[in-house]
Amino acid sequence: MNLFNRVESKVAPKIPHIIKYMGSKRNIIDFVVDAIDELYLGEDQYMYDMFAGSSIVCGSFRNLMNVSCNDIQNYSKIVGGVYLNNYNWDLLPSDVIEKFFDDVEDRVDEFKKVNKFESIDYNNFSSFEDVLKLELDQRNLREKLFNNNFDHLFAKYFSGTYWSYEQCVWIDAIASVIRKEKYSTKFLFDLVNGALMFSMAYCSQSTGHYAQYRDLKPDNFKDVLIYRRKELFPIFKKKVRTLKEYYNGENNHDLRHEFTSLDYRDALKNVRKRSIIYADPPYQFVHYSRFYHALETLVKYDYPELKYKGRYRTDRHQSPFCIKTQVPKAFKSLFEGANYSNSSIVLSYSNSGMITLEQILDIAKSELKGYLITTEEIDYKHSTMGRQGDKHRDVKEVLIIGSKM
Ligand SMILES: C[S@@+](CC[C@H](N)C(=O)[O-])C[C@H]1O[C@@H](n2cnc3c(N)ncnc32)[C@H](O)[C@@H]1O
Repeated sequence: MNLFNRVESKVAPKIPHIIKYMGSKRNIIDFVVDAIDELYLGEDQYMYDMFAGSSIVCGSFRNLMNVSCNDIQNYSKIVGGVYLNNYNWDLLPSDVIEKFFDDVEDRVDEFKKVNKFESIDYNNFSSFEDVLKLELDQRNLREKLFNNNFDHLFAKYFSGTYWSYEQCVWIDAIASVIRKEKYSTKFLFDLVNGALMFSMAYCSQSTGHYAQYRDLKPDNFKDVLIYRRKELFPIFKKKVRTLKEYYNGENNHDLRHEFTSLDYRDALKNVRKRSIIYADPPYQFVHYSRFYHALETLVKYDYPELKYKGRYRTDRHQSPFCIKTQVPKAFKSLFEGANYSNSSIVLSYSNSGMITLEQILDIAKSELKGYLITTEEIDYKHSTMGRQGDKHRDVKEVLIIGSKM
């Protein structure tokens, strides 16, 4: 049975952009979705996106089948919510969004009254040296005592790094106001946080992830200033309005979607019988938790202990798919888990990953008894998410498909 035959074209729905994500399947979404679609058995079946990341794959199934969205990182669940929630706007006052924006502005005004640190006007400065000094002053806010009546996590921990102090004050205000009880409806919470993640990426002076911010130097000064001059709040407001318009009145109440933040080995224990598992684990040795720690901190908002220049959380997750000696066992557990629930599985990987495709196929054949195992491949340019030099690498994206017979 083919789900996408039910819509006019086979092209997966164009889904709003929320986070720039390393390894996102957005550019090859039809390739992936078609393979999952081929395994579809009928209405009650679930599709488990085990390593959902930007949630673009599970989000493509919003109105087509039951979806379980999982990733070890909590922000992924929020983005998944934006794509998969039912939006019951009628339950909320018609001006809820405008009221929310007003509350954020009030919150910023109050914050600035009690925390007397001057924002830099990046449109009006005298020299590179002056700006450098002011930026270093912002970074030192980490040592400053803030008034505890106001949430200040980003202002304290991230000013003068990925974002300016002024941008951080707005991030804190939005994150704080959305946690108020009157705005606690899940779909609103997810939508606002999704829009905030989007606007944070637009204003960040790093390369779309948060592994490292750029030190200010005479040769990158002008480029960094472009980001420092961006006003976060108007970008955020525009995104909220766009998302609200997009998700207005196209709910499918008959479908049941769920969201978890589990290690895939735990999530696999709860998979319903004869489901479809889509698995897109990390391909490289770099841990996602290092690149997206700031998003994790945003959604947890827990004032974590931070370390290193990039200001990473110390409780960052280390994935077995990124540790050479643990990768074969990690794949073994994945296939074992699929077999345990008699589920079909579609695995994404590339020919430049941590182990070879032949090795993965050998593991799949020994774990998936009574399965038909096939492969499909497509040429692809992997983004390295760098600002200079080698921005793309030519690779083959491969799907290893285990269909339960
Ligand atoms: C290649 S990305 C997934 C990209 C996603 N399919 C997309 O299109 O955006 C891999 C994901 O695996 C997640 N991950 C890594 N180790 C995990 C684990 N042990 N359990 C669950 N998720 C894990 C990472 O947080 C990351 O989001």
